[in-house]
Parts: sequence; structure tokens; C-alpha cells
Amino acid sequence: EAGDFLAEKGPYPHFMLKEIHEQPGVAARVLGSWTARGDGTVTCDAAGLGWARVPRLTIAACGTACLAGQVGKIWLERIARLPVEIEIASEFRYREPPLPEGGVTLVISQSGETADTLAALRYAKEAGQRTLGLVNVPTSTIAREVDVALATHAGPEIGVASTKAFTAQLLCLLGFTVMVARQRGTLDEADERRWIGALSSVPRLIAETLAAEPAIAAAAAGALAPASDAIFVGRGLMYPLALEGALKLKEITYIHAEGHAAGELKHGPIALVDATVPVVALAPSDGLFDKLDSNIREIMARDGRVLLLTDAAGAARLGEAAWRTIVLPDCEPFLQPFVQAVAIQLLAYHCALARGTDIDQPRNLAKSVTVE
Ligand code: G6P
Repeated sequence: EAGDFLAEKGPYPHFMLKEIHEQPGVAARVLGSWTARGDGTVTCDAAGLGWARVPRLTIAACGTACLAGQVGKIWLERIARLPVEIEIASEFRYREPPLPEGGVTLVISQSGETADTLAALRYAKEAGQRTLGLVNVPTSTIAREVDVALATHAGPEIGVASTKAFTAQLLCLLGFTVMVARQRGTLDEADERRWIGALSSVPRLIAETLAAEPAIAAAAAGALAPASDAIFVGRGLMYPLALEGALKLKEITYIHAEGHAAGELKHGPIALVDATVPVVALAPSDGLFDKLDSNIREIMARDGRVLLLTDAAGAARLGEAAWRTIVLPDCEPFLQPFVQAVAIQLLAYHCALARGTDIDQPRNLAKSVTVE
């Protein structure tokens, strides 16, 4: 299963950079497995669970995997109209939450060994839930204990900061969403075929985003690396991506970083904004762009320096006013997480490079946390 993705750095100075660059290939491999029948339908081992009658999906995970789950929740709610709860695995079982009859719990884990995620899985099983695991290591404990294991196919991930496993989790979650939506009748056969076309564009979209690396590296080194605090903002699908951007940055650069829903800034975090705190705005020109535009102007009115991660249309509207603007590929709104995920990974990586930190082995962190 490790296949073409070897646990060696090759020409790259760090595993993290190598793994970032592997993402078009990983996405192609994920697609190969989710469209294996080649008949315009999604192939998924979880199809037998009868999704039309599932009252609710509970997703539990930790760290980056939990943020992939937050993106998945939005897709599943919007596209498949499936109610989804997202849970931080370390909190979940201690609340002793009631779980619905006929419900399904999905745990997401790169390693398949995270103690809290495993405990969440066992709690769900005891509560009578059917269980699914989205796991990168197919021989792991979680992969063995779930009713149905779905593989993320990312190959070995060595860098402590998760990159390719995250985008693989996202792509699997979107494929899963299409399957669930078909069963719940929110997509028809023709829609499914169109969705598969959209999914097939993800490897190319990721490759096009990687082409923005020089611009991202320049902004990272020149604008972000000297800062001691940074704020990431986004709305909708870009909210969990803003959290992931802040997480990646703090993990490997040790810059204090916070991610916020852009509309929530005015309820507190905007008090932190001044000319010394860069604000990274995840700002594709989607349906929420007008709202985000006014949030960004509020930041700029308080001397905030906005680093805009946007597309050509967004740059045309806000680029002049922003401090720095990085133009990323255009794509349809539901696919934006793939573009922005790669951009924030490169931003954190090049910022860490400029600061000279130990990128693959950041202080105080472990790749897999098997204690509570
Ligand atoms: C650790 C890693 C994170 C990861 C989290 C969950 O804290 O440093 O990068 O997101 O565990 O790991 P998992 O293997 O369950 O996805």
C-alpha cells in the first residue's frame, strides 16, 4: 500500500516539503480508489450502511484530522443534507453524550493509533453506533476496530505536521459525501457524474496551487516570519481551513497564531489587531466574499495588515487594499479547501524555513499521541 510514496526525503530538504509536493499524486490515488468502477459512480465500502435512514453522523478526531472532519461536516450538511456533529475526541466520551438510534460514528486518524480517537470509537461502539474509520495506516488499531475502514491512501507521512494526510482525508470525505448524497436523493445520477468530474480536477488544482510556491515563500519570509503573533480568518468552508492555517503555523514556527471565523472577529479577537499582527485572510471569491470583504475592511481600518489568499477575481476587488496578495487558482467553491490547504501548508513551511526551526520534528510534539 505504501506504493510509490517512499519514506525517504529524496531531493527535498524536509519530509514536510516532500509530502506537500506529493499531494497531486496522493489525490490521484485517492480518486482511483473512489472511482474504481469507472462507471461515473462513487465506489465506497461504507455504501452498505443505508444512508437514507441514518439520523445523524458523529465525527470524532484530534488535531488536523478533526479539522478535516469540520470541512466534511459542511460538505455533508450542504450537499447530502445529513445532520453531522463534530467532536474533539478528547472531550467526547467524558461528556457521555447521547447518540441517536441507528446513528453512525466516523473517526478520522492518520496514524490510527491516537489514544483519544480510539477511546471515542470505543465509546461510540458501546453506545450502539455503527462505526466507520478514515485511516491512513491500514494495519492500525482503529482500522481493525471499526466496522468499516476507509483508507486515505496518502502513504507514509513522516513530517509531524500533517499535510498530505489532511488533503487525502478531505478528498475521501468529499467522495463519501457524494455517495451519501446519492442515497439520500439530494444528488441524482447526472449530478454524481458531474461531481466525479469535479473531483477529478483536484490533482490538477493542487498542482496549480503548488506553482504559487515562490509567491507564498516570499510573503512567508518577508511578511509573516518576523511576526510574533498572527491571525487567520475565513468563513464557511474557509473557517476550518483558517483554524488549520493557524495550527500549522504554530506547530512548526512557534509563532502565536489564532484562527477565527471572520464574522466573529468583532466579538473579541479584533482587539488584538494592530500593525504588528498580520491577518491571513482565506478569501476565495465565493458566495461569502462580500461578507468577508467587509470583515477585511474592518481589520484594515484598525491598521491591520492583511495577507490575502484569494483568486484572480478576489485580487481584483481587494488586492489594492491588502498588504500582500497571493493569487491562487480559480475553482468552484466546494473545491476551495484543496487550494487553500496547500497554500497554508506552504506558508507555514516557508515561514519555518525563514525562522530556522526544526520543521520535521517540532518541539513538544509527536507524530502520533498514544497517551491521553
Ligand atoms: C498529533 C499530530 C497531529 C495530528 C494529531 C492526530 O498531535 O502531531 O499532526 O493531527 O496527532 O493524529 P492522527 O494520527 O489521529 O490523525
